[in-house]
Amino acid sequence: MFSKYKKTDGTSGGQGSPELKSIPGGSVGRATSKPSPTPDLPATQTQDVVTRRRQSKPDAQPKPVDKERKRKERLGEIKLELHKRLLDNLNLSALETATENDLRAEIVAISGEALDEMGVVLNREERQTLNQDLYDEVTGLGPLEPLLKDDTVNDILVNGPQQVFVERAGKLELTDTTFKDEKHLLRIIDKIVSAVGRRVDESNPYVDARLADGSRFNAMVPPIAVDGSLVSIRKFKKEKLSVDDLVNFGAFTEEMAAYLQAAVATRLNVIVSGGTGSGKTTTLNALSSFIDNDERILTIEDTAELQLQQIHVGRMESRPPNVEGKGAVSQRDCLRNALRMRPDRIIVGETRGEEVIDMLQAMNTGHDGSMTTIHANSARDAVSRLENMISMAGIEMPIKATRSQISSAVNLIVQASRLQDGSRRMVSITEVTGMEGEVISMQEVFRYQRVGLTPDNKIIGHFTATGVRSNFSERFRMWGYDLPSNIFEPFAAE
Ligand SMILES: Nc1ncnc2c1ncn2[C@@H]1O[C@H](COP(=O)(O)OP(=O)(O)OP(=O)(O)O)[C@@H](O)[C@H]1O
Ligand SMILES: [Mg+2]
Repeated sequence: MFSKYKKTDGTSGGQGSPELKSIPGGSVGRATSKPSPTPDLPATQTQDVVTRRRQSKPDAQPKPVDKERKRKERLGEIKLELHKRLLDNLNLSALETATENDLRAEIVAISGEALDEMGVVLNREERQTLNQDLYDEVTGLGPLEPLLKDDTVNDILVNGPQQVFVERAGKLELTDTTFKDEKHLLRIIDKIVSAVGRRVDESNPYVDARLADGSRFNAMVPPIAVDGSLVSIRKFKKEKLSVDDLVNFGAFTEEMAAYLQAAVATRLNVIVSGGTGSGKTTTLNALSSFIDNDERILTIEDTAELQLQQIHVGRMESRPPNVEGKGAVSQRDCLRNALRMRPDRIIVGETRGEEVIDMLQAMNTGHDGSMTTIHANSARDAVSRLENMISMAGIEMPIKATRSQISSAVNLIVQASRLQDGSRRMVSITEVTGMEGEVISMQEVFRYQRVGLTPDNKIIGHFTATGVRSNFSERFRMWGYDLPSNIFEPFAAE
């Protein structure tokens, strides 16, 4: 049965009687009951599993929790053993073309045979779980596979082999997923990065990559990661949240959406500011839906995440240097080139370095309506971040000139935030109105007003306009976005 993907070299006996020799040096098929050690495994390891099971039989009534833990441990050991056998026996290159059904059947057969041989009896459910785990291990990313398939999981965070956290609905949860040991975790990391043509090892101990499905992947391995490899995965969502979704989720109100639509459609330059995972990219993506279909948009990102719905979109992704330190293409390189590509608008996924200069220049020189995100905790903070980035880029300019450059480039700062209860909200929309002396003047138009906390730690609050009339009202009106003036009036608190 499992001849098709079995290695044909070595001891496996060719095509004559593949079934009987599927486990090299093993007990040759289902007919034999006497287990003999696998040659490329330490004999003790194979027997260990068997002996442990046999010894455990006479144990007098262990406590249920203990029993459960032991059983789980034993299943882990069995899985590891079976996995080794699978890898030893399967022809991995043939696997690439195998159909899912064939492969699953193969795994069921090999594991069934090996379990018989090891004298291990599992119930139906355990067998199914085991076979699924083995399938994931052979074809996918092992213990990470179920989490990657789980649509409710946004982020996966691994802190060494024994601790895997996930983020669901804005909240971090510890899972019971573990890796057998650091070697197992490293093997999975290696599988991921080598599939995208990258490498990670002691001399090159961290890697940032985009997986084939678009997910963002970062790993750092020992010795830099002290207690075992650190992995973070931001899962790619095929269905990006739309403006309507965000309004439904309470990220902002319909009035704010109408305002943002006017702002984007009338080509204001917008910065989405926020902390890590606060929803910046999601917001930027949703805002881009307000761009007209006949505009040429160029997007520049370190990891291509944006999914614009317009027809005329050119996407660029920067590239880190290769192992010899060559071949890097920075966001700044992309941006400079983009300016020669006749864009109507430029969207930079996240401005974090020297590209800030070119971004501001683009915003100031005919590419109005450009957008980017920035890692900052408030609108004021976003402006300071821009100032810092400019000075870090080695541009020596008096602070007033820097600020005046920023104030004429940036029109709107939208602040995204992940609140302590896990909810993500647009906590402020602030207009940049100009300069007063050496200071950039701003006015907040909408904000999220927190009022309290429910007993189960959910934040109580509401969105409100601040009562300030938009500085861009006239512009909106001229462009045909005549917003009713009452959207700028403070909302009555619920
Ligand atoms: N308002 C929202 N409600 C629910 N989920 C949201 C909301 N906004 C964003 N998310 C989800 O939160 C996760 C993080 O969002 P996103 O990638 O936009 O954050 P980010 O600020 O760009 O993160 P990073 O700092 O890592 O770039 C995503 O999985 C996204 O689908
Ligand atoms: Mg982002």
